[in-house]
Amino acid sequence: MSAHSLQWGGRFQSAPDPALLAFGSSLGEDLLLARFDVRSSQAHVRALFGGGTIAAATYEALVSALDRVAAEIEDGSFRAFASTGAFEDIHGAIDARVREIDDDAGGWLHAGRSRNDQVATTLALYAAERARMGAARAASIARALAGRARSALGQGSVLAGTTHGQPAQPVLLAFWLQGAAEPFLRSARRFAALAREAMDVMPLGSAALAGSCLPLDRVAAARYLGFARPSRNALDAVGTRDALFACADAWATCCVPAARISAEIVAWASPLVGYVRIGDASASGSSLMPQKRNPDIFELVRAGTQRALADARAAWAASAAIPLSYHRDLQECKQSAIAAIERADSLLSAFERALADIEFDLENMERHATAGYTLATDLADALVRGGVDARRAHRLVGERVAAAEERGRPFDASDLHALAAHLGTTTLDAPLDARASVLAKATEGSTSPSAVALALDMLERELSGEALP
Ligand code: ARG
Repeated sequence: MSAHSLQWGGRFQSAPDPALLAFGSSLGEDLLLARFDVRSSQAHVRALFGGGTIAAATYEALVSALDRVAAEIEDGSFRAFASTGAFEDIHGAIDARVREIDDDAGGWLHAGRSRNDQVATTLALYAAERARMGAARAASIARALAGRARSALGQGSVLAGTTHGQPAQPVLLAFWLQGAAEPFLRSARRFAALAREAMDVMPLGSAALAGSCLPLDRVAAARYLGFARPSRNALDAVGTRDALFACADAWATCCVPAARISAEIVAWASPLVGYVRIGDASASGSSLMPQKRNPDIFELVRAGTQRALADARAAWAASAAIPLSYHRDLQECKQSAIAAIERADSLLSAFERALADIEFDLENMERHATAGYTLATDLADALVRGGVDARRAHRLVGERVAAAEERGRPFDASDLHALAAHLGTTTLDAPLDARASVLAKATEGSTSPSAVALALDMLERELSGEALP
């Protein structure tokens, strides 16, 4: 262990057990926080100088030592340095490197600061950046789906929409795609709000839990980092990870629509259904069965979402078990939250790539759009429009389904004719094919081409709005 590895020791007679030190280290997961710690350390140096605790020469020396660490993080050499010491976390490693670069000035860096306010600030900066990335990712997926919806709308492609996995009613493929895009727009909005929330209050300057006796210029530090204001309760500031955990939630919940779409694509990609063909770039073969073309990426998205959700939940749960202020449990929470965010990030990026690589078999979809008597509700609606009450209409059409099914045929003109008799007319004004069925929809938000066109206009407008990246 190098002399600089530990940030404490004066009151101890012997060195810590290396195995326990290793057990307690979060350095591996922390390395991606290095950039944010350096920025927060730069802010602390400004707070020290602004308060008059350090001289101009020390200030200059610390700023340049931290600049050098930032460059070493960029070129990868800091990672090598960090692996040489038994560091508990990234904060100890950066402090040690600064002291190695300049031992005199380095000794001042931690004045008036605790790792407690340092970790909290670093994590807020990380959460804000990842929330901005999340907004961009979610908006980009929504735009990709909206783009596909736009071309499917032009083609008028239809399929049997399902509930309970059973054929239900014909819908436009554009309607399905636009419906798939909507939750990503909501996610993008949630991320954008979160990015602002994470930069609301700055924990730095809270020290361990009670604030500091040193006159820290917290306003200067907050301005340097882009926080709206310094936190107003040190105890709360060092023990709270709300923004980070909300960011983990936002990432994990953004995976949920991706998982659901994936589940549908997995089903559609089966040759038994044949609605979707997975491209060569994203399909996997089998090591034994030469004919296979498996939708592995979508399966991984589906299962990986559960892991991200579990990690986000674990972060909240462990923090619910501790009293106010900092406890080491928060290190575990940090690791869970980072795991959720980073997993969700790679998952959504893979999802977006794989999604671009699927092709719909429009003819096959259309061929099956009325299978399973998906026009039955349209026939019942036509009876209701003619004055038959809903329960009776349901029964009458149900009887036609049973009769047609018995003969193994789809609905035809004879069914319209038989139903029309209940209205005292010769034929029923009801669709007998899927395109006519979607055209007959009359409500806002329905699958009719005009409603989908309107919805898509609105979606695209919101996606190009200023609030989203
Ligand atoms: N390694 C800890 C973390 O990442 C920070 C240590 C905070 N303070 C302490 N006294 N143990 O959360």
